Amino acid sequence: MPTPASLATAAHQDIQFKLVSGTWPAAISGEVIFSAPQMSGRIPYGIFDFGAVCGLSLQPGTYGSAADRFSWRARTINSPSKRLHDAAPELFRIGATGYASPFGAPNCANTAPLPWGGRLFATWDAGRPIELNPDTLEFVAEVGHIDSWGGPSMPGTTVLPFVLSSAHPVVDPERDCLWSAKLDMVFEPQFGLKPSIVRYDGDGTRVQHWPLEGVAFNGSIHTVSQTRNWVIFSDSGNFRVDPGEMMGGDRTVTVDDAAPVWLVRKDVLESTPPGQPVTPITLRMGPPAGHYYANWDDSDGITVVWEGMDVMDLAMYLRPDDLDVNGNPIDPAVVGLYNVAMAPETVVEVRFDPETGQVKDLGRFREDWAFNLQLSGIDWSLEGQTAPTYHHVAYQGSRPGRISARAARLYEDRIDRNLLREDTPGALATFRRGNVELASKWDYPDLGDLITSPTFVPRPAPASAGGSRYASAEPGGHDGWIVQPVFNDDGFRIELFDAAHVGAGPVATLRGDAGQNVPLLLHSAWMPTPDGLADVERLTFADELDEARRASVPHEHRHLLDLVIAEMAN
Ligand SMILES: [Fe+2]
Repeated sequence: MPTPASLATAAHQDIQFKLVSGTWPAAISGEVIFSAPQMSGRIPYGIFDFGAVCGLSLQPGTYGSAADRFSWRARTINSPSKRLHDAAPELFRIGATGYASPFGAPNCANTAPLPWGGRLFATWDAGRPIELNPDTLEFVAEVGHIDSWGGPSMPGTTVLPFVLSSAHPVVDPERDCLWSAKLDMVFEPQFGLKPSIVRYDGDGTRVQHWPLEGVAFNGSIHTVSQTRNWVIFSDSGNFRVDPGEMMGGDRTVTVDDAAPVWLVRKDVLESTPPGQPVTPITLRMGPPAGHYYANWDDSDGITVVWEGMDVMDLAMYLRPDDLDVNGNPIDPAVVGLYNVAMAPETVVEVRFDPETGQVKDLGRFREDWAFNLQLSGIDWSLEGQTAPTYHHVAYQGSRPGRISARAARLYEDRIDRNLLREDTPGALATFRRGNVELASKWDYPDLGDLITSPTFVPRPAPASAGGSRYASAEPGGHDGWIVQPVFNDDGFRIELFDAAHVGAGPVATLRGDAGQNVPLLLHSAWMPTPDGLADVERLTFADELDEARRASVPHEHRHLLDLVIAEMAN
């Protein structure tokens, strides 16, 4: 079974993990947080399902678990959207891009956890960030009144605004703010998306936004990156809206081999009134990348590690009637999952020169085994971002059973079918920052293993080291551990690696005490042991419910709005 069926069939649940091999380091601490869609089976493409959040405690005996057990908590994000859905699920229609309802477009916040100091947020590309209580993982608030985002992404008045955003806003450690993106749909002269930079200062009910002058594109800004002086946007290039498909036709839009990158100086934003346009510097970079991370220090240019997603089309997913690339029927267990990579993927270290517009490769890595580059583990401390040392990437290997014949036909002239005949092992790989040379690699030859988002956990530094809260004694990505989740129908497990020696194999492994499985997980992030909910002013659901938005809901359903307001007040 190349792709564990449990990805789609397991249910989110609390689990107590036990150590089954190796030695768990006494020094490790904090929580690894995972975002996930519910995988309720209700909608055809699981990544549009409502969000869940899972928390793994790295110290045993917490959150009610036994002294020798590690707590895994799974929580539904009970946002206003989810509460309205639960109050009247029959009102939520199901389409190719998720739920639609008389209340508007629900915010599913199922893609990435975002720790910010002691606070925690959950994000996705089609809604505003949602703040969670870092202790209980429960919903707290959505970020920013929709009017301060410049209104919804598509014209219209609804209670739940449709907001195309970024699944990876970035925390600015100097300004103590969050930088994100918002996209507005335009239909003239043709369909396109106009991006804005969004800033949230962490307190209050509003954000600020600045449209990018002269930019409209068909794509997404999955990741926002930054240096000390620049905000960096790129068209992720792997999810393009196909208006024909939205009207019920077959998909004909494909991803490009390169994508635009937009750079805007932070001081320009700070001197421009919110709502006024700013003009970016535009570069072009290939292959497109969903995830890219710039060094904080930009004194020698903007240095970025770029996780290329060559010929990766996340808008395609597996349908029940699909055949795979080799003509076999699609395994029912993978229906509703995304269509995986159709080529090996390229990791690039690159330097952008904003003065000249030059793009200089510092190193490029692509080998035939490097299929399905998934997600990466990096040191998010300011010190680690300033001088990164190691970049850890999980590859799932070639998985032809999850490539549809439809997708292969659409990309016929851009793929090598000889690399798509058989499943190949996944690997956790460490790249040296500066030139992305492969420093270390651990293979997963059991094809029943499917690895997902790795997380770097810093080794706690003595207080005398004087570093920032997230920093180890030797920041950069090698001084700590990698938490590597592994799906397998024989039981989900957590493997722990020494980040300096991934190739030596796991130093410890956890399994659920009853061999439990866990459904699809997306991004993960480490945060220190939480110490309560920050005391700041936040947006409430009631704040946005003006008369016009109420009036947009058919009269017979308006009482549900008050029901949710009352629920959230308790
Ligand atoms: Fe992502």
